Amino acid sequence: MAELPYYPVNEFGPVMKGMVIGGVGIVHVFLAQFAIGGGFLLCYFQWLAQRGREPDARRFLDGYFKVLVLVSFVLGALTGVAMWFTSIQVSARTIGLLVDEFHWVWAIEWCFFSVEVVAGYAFYRWGPRLPDPTRMRLLVLYTAAAWGSLFWINGILSWQLTPGNWTTGDLWAGFFNPSFWPSLVFRTVVAMALAALAGILVISSFDDLGRDRRRVLIGRAAHFLAPMAVMPVLAVWYLAVIPDDSRSWLLGGSIAMTMFVGIAAGASLLIGAYAAIGLLLRRLYVSTATASLLLALAFGATAAGEFVREGARKPYTARQTLYSNSIAPAEIAELRRTGSATADPYPLRDAARYPTAQLRLGALVVRTQCSVCHTMNGANGLTHLTATWTPDQLRMNVAQLQRTKAYMPPFAGTAEEVEAVVQLVRWEAAGAPPAWPEEAGEAVAAGDAAALEASVRARIQTWLDEAGTEPGAPRRRR
Ligand code: HEC
Repeated sequence: MAELPYYPVNEFGPVMKGMVIGGVGIVHVFLAQFAIGGGFLLCYFQWLAQRGREPDARRFLDGYFKVLVLVSFVLGALTGVAMWFTSIQVSARTIGLLVDEFHWVWAIEWCFFSVEVVAGYAFYRWGPRLPDPTRMRLLVLYTAAAWGSLFWINGILSWQLTPGNWTTGDLWAGFFNPSFWPSLVFRTVVAMALAALAGILVISSFDDLGRDRRRVLIGRAAHFLAPMAVMPVLAVWYLAVIPDDSRSWLLGGSIAMTMFVGIAAGASLLIGAYAAIGLLLRRLYVSTATASLLLALAFGATAAGEFVREGARKPYTARQTLYSNSIAPAEIAELRRTGSATADPYPLRDAARYPTAQLRLGALVVRTQCSVCHTMNGANGLTHLTATWTPDQLRMNVAQLQRTKAYMPPFAGTAEEVEAVVQLVRWEAAGAPPAWPEEAGEAVAAGDAAALEASVRARIQTWLDEAGTEPGAPRRRR
């Protein structure tokens, strides 16, 4: 018997669970990447100050840019913890798998992070009183540790989409997976760009410095936008190494993802063009308002980019190993026989809402198999998606879920569970009435309820068997 591990569940109202992780993740990535790029920028300005090349460099260094970096790594750490809290609620099994495989990598990452925090705090606290070489050493230490933590975490995150030649226990094959290098370089470039934009915002607010001196400082910070020029190449490299099915969604197969690719690319292009023409070529002055707008645009690009990266992994949280709904591919066949809700020990939060046992079963099945990507009536709501469908259309599409859309895992339950989901969706779409017949609608016309039920179950079983238990997109490791 397939022993599906069940974990305590939490629900987030009209927001599907995946979106909760996505939301926290985007803020976390933005802050953490800024904290890394900020380190690079501080090193550069410290170098300028030490060499006497830039009289106002120290103003920047000991001004509130360093406070900003501090705030971002404190908030980065807090949102990092928030990531753990949300992801163990949404996908405990995925986190379990990651911890099982990569605990030492995570331990190393945490060491780097502690060094980052200590060095950053030391610079914040004592920086102004220290001699230049010591300041430089602290900043280099901070930056190396910050970038190092990206290096380590990047191996785990990129492994989720492209496990490469990894098999359980073969840690390094998974760590240095096909998308490791393109994503590491890409994130480094993004980190530098974010730091430059935040730096420009800070400089533009130095009212005591006079416009021309501010313009010079802005020009310095803008150098960190130059690496953006290689972003298109990195994007193409990344697209080339991700699995074929994921790539096809980004390039038209899933319009939501395609549009986010467009937004990320478009926003980055606008920032890059402004940097190249306005800042590097024409050496324009940037007002606080413009700088804020640029930074907001960069946040938009980060958000869209992270959405795409997370979305491209569907239907898996760990490609080939674990589906997004925390069911392993190898378990599906057995769950088709035993059912996905049979052993679920956790009660429904509002069981009394449902008039029949069939609807309660449907709610359990949706909770286990669908709720990470769907809600009933809210985000990606099942009632919205199927509003115009006939009962049989719904049955067939749910039974053949991986064929309906290859970014959904195969249905992992019995024919009875398919029917329970179908009736639940129809009941919700009908406004959750207080009474609901099984096989609603058809029972009225056909006299013999038992025969009808048998024929519906038989049809569903045929569809389930036809679709099989393999994922929709061909299994191929990249
Ligand atoms: C990995 C995430 C994921 C899981 C798990 C998942 N779905 Fe989906 N599903 C999606 C996405 C994304 C869409 C596409 C929405 C769109 O096209 O706007 C979708 C679309 C659908 C559609 C509409 C298909 C169409 O062609 O219009 C139905 C019906 C559906 N899902 C039912 C289910 C049911 C029932 C379950 C659970 C048994 C489930 N899904 C599990 C992500 C998922």
